[in-house]
Amino acid sequence: MRFDVVTLFPELFGPHLSEGVTRRAFDSGQVDVRLWQLRDFADGNYRRVDDRPYGGGPGMVMLAEPLERALAAVRADRADATPLIHFSPTGRRIDQALVQEMAAGPGAVLLCGRYEGIDQRVIDRHVTLELSLGDFVLSGGELPAIALLDAIARLQDGVLNDAASHQQDSFSDGLLDCPHYSRPERLVTPEGELAVPAELMSGHHGHIARWRRERSLEITARRRPDLIAAARAAGKLSRDDERFLSTLKPG
Ligand SMILES: C[S@@+](CC[C@H](N)C(=O)[O-])C[C@H]1O[C@@H](n2cnc3c(N)ncnc32)[C@H](O)[C@@H]1O
Repeated sequence: MRFDVVTLFPELFGPHLSEGVTRRAFDSGQVDVRLWQLRDFADGNYRRVDDRPYGGGPGMVMLAEPLERALAAVRADRADATPLIHFSPTGRRIDQALVQEMAAGPGAVLLCGRYEGIDQRVIDRHVTLELSLGDFVLSGGELPAIALLDAIARLQDGVLNDAASHQQDSFSDGLLDCPHYSRPERLVTPEGELAVPAELMSGHHGHIARWRRERSLEITARRRPDLIAAARAAGKLSRDDERFLSTLKPG
């Protein structure tokens, strides 16, 4: 799959594409990321990419013409009709279902805004989907683009050391993940020793799996009851799950 990123700050992507386990996906070309410097498509000595908004008010708007030229160049370079994603706080919230869908797709063109945002006519003409990282405002679309690329890369075959590991991640089966523990078995702290839960030390696969499932149900019920309702509606909760949930005290 191929992603073409149009940005004023291509250098922000470098470290994120070249470090950590996801590097495998980017190095191998499984996730082929090409960076386009928007300023290369701007006019004049100053290569201006922004101007004041019509109607007045604070801030600057990213100019339509450099964006039009950049998108035409990207389209000419990749002869397919892949979706164009614009990152915006006004967009659909990125979630794991969308990441899973995109991880099996052809890629996309990613448009990173800056300043007050981009000229609406470019959005109206070209954008297929607007995506938000969450209900807060960042200074640019680069971090959402990096977050999306990372989430997609880690789902590619051979990227994680243990292929099963993302199947137990939060959201993959609709619930939040359970807690994890590693050595030492007893952690010495000034307040006393902290032991690993006994079930995880039992060596009994069935008990361990049930303990993990119950912790996952408990955390999800307390923190994200909306996810429990969705899992129930999708028929993803067993009788044992429902029995366990009915034992949880409120709060
Ligand atoms: C300062 S923001 C503009 C915010 C815009 N005026 C608004 O209030 O919706 C500059 C750029 O950062 C990106 N951005 C900021 N917050 C974002 C978020 N939560 N999700 C996705 N992109 C975001 C967008 O590309 C946006 O064009």
